[in-house]
Amino acid sequence: MTYKHRTIIDSIPAYKQGKPAPQAHGRRSFKISSNENPFAPLPSVLEAIQKYSLDHINRYPDMRGWKLVERLAAINGVRPENVVLGCGSSEVITQLVSLVAGPGDEVVYPWRSFEAYPIIVAGAGAASAQVANLPDGSHDIDGIIGALNERTRLVILNNPNNPTGASLSDADARRVMEAVPSDVLVLFDEAYFQFNTAPGTSVALDLFREYPNIVVAHTFSKAYGLAGLRIGYAVAAADVIEGMRKVSVPFAVSDVAQRAALASLDVSAELEERVTSIIAERDRVVAALRVQGWECAEPYANFFWLSLGEATDEAAEAFVEAGLSVRVFSGEGIRITIGEPEANDTVIEVCQQLKAQGI
Ligand SMILES: Cc1ncc(COP(=O)(O)O)c(C=O)c1O
Repeated sequence: MTYKHRTIIDSIPAYKQGKPAPQAHGRRSFKISSNENPFAPLPSVLEAIQKYSLDHINRYPDMRGWKLVERLAAINGVRPENVVLGCGSSEVITQLVSLVAGPGDEVVYPWRSFEAYPIIVAGAGAASAQVANLPDGSHDIDGIIGALNERTRLVILNNPNNPTGASLSDADARRVMEAVPSDVLVLFDEAYFQFNTAPGTSVALDLFREYPNIVVAHTFSKAYGLAGLRIGYAVAAADVIEGMRKVSVPFAVSDVAQRAALASLDVSAELEERVTSIIAERDRVVAALRVQGWECAEPYANFFWLSLGEATDEAAEAFVEAGLSVRVFSGEGIRITIGEPEANDTVIEVCQQLKAQGI
């Protein structure tokens, strides 16, 4: 059917969700395509949801999420006025882009990076200024600085970068902050920061104390394993947060999600232990791949990147055959999430087989 609509929408690529685990013949299959946490929810988190939330689902949630906002403010050393919740950090990023950018404006960000950025920017009617990553998958800082102009309304930095796993150094983050005018906002999307073991990495919350035009986006989806409940938050200057709240989807963050996030903060030490074990698995897999002859850039998230170029599609078939759904970027490479140890063992096996095939 033809219908009147904003033609810019026709140019937006639809978001492609990571594929579910494929059918595997005679072996367990795994979904390692969406950078999810392989651990099941902690019993105390499930109990908090059941005990406090489920009886109240006939009621709207607290739209501002005060209890959680106050807790997050205390943890992050800011005031509650500096925190806004979102239905995942995806919504927080959407709030920010709608707040600052519209037709005629530009949003500068590295590419390849989180695939929602171009969708969110085009959805707001603004233009994307994508800056190609350096060959090692890290942000091209000179390129990002060179892309700034009078139309720039937002710069997005992704640390560590999805899908390449590269970390952004404090020195490079400061170079960007010195180059960006103080009335232009810079979003530090730190969805995977808990996995970032890079020496000298930038820490956006620390930088925020020096540069008030920084917005920090964090999520409970990854290290805290609440991807299915959709909850994330931003830290920013109070007037930025006020603006973001105005354009937020009303009641987008459920009471269940808020309770689960609060309960997760109560057991953060246990969750951090899980993060440590995922990091150990990541390092084990990458070390094994290097022995096989792969040249993987050091990953700093709960996933790693295999640069495969033209061989990407052929390699992707081998993963599916082995019962693994991975994230395939045709002609570029494959992003592999660190999953259960058995899934990781299968990844090592498939990579060995690919090397034997001459890939
Ligand atoms: C870099 C990055 N930012 C933000 C998100 C959004 O996560 P969520 O909306 O689940 O908080 C993701 C999800 O994969 C991501 O990779």
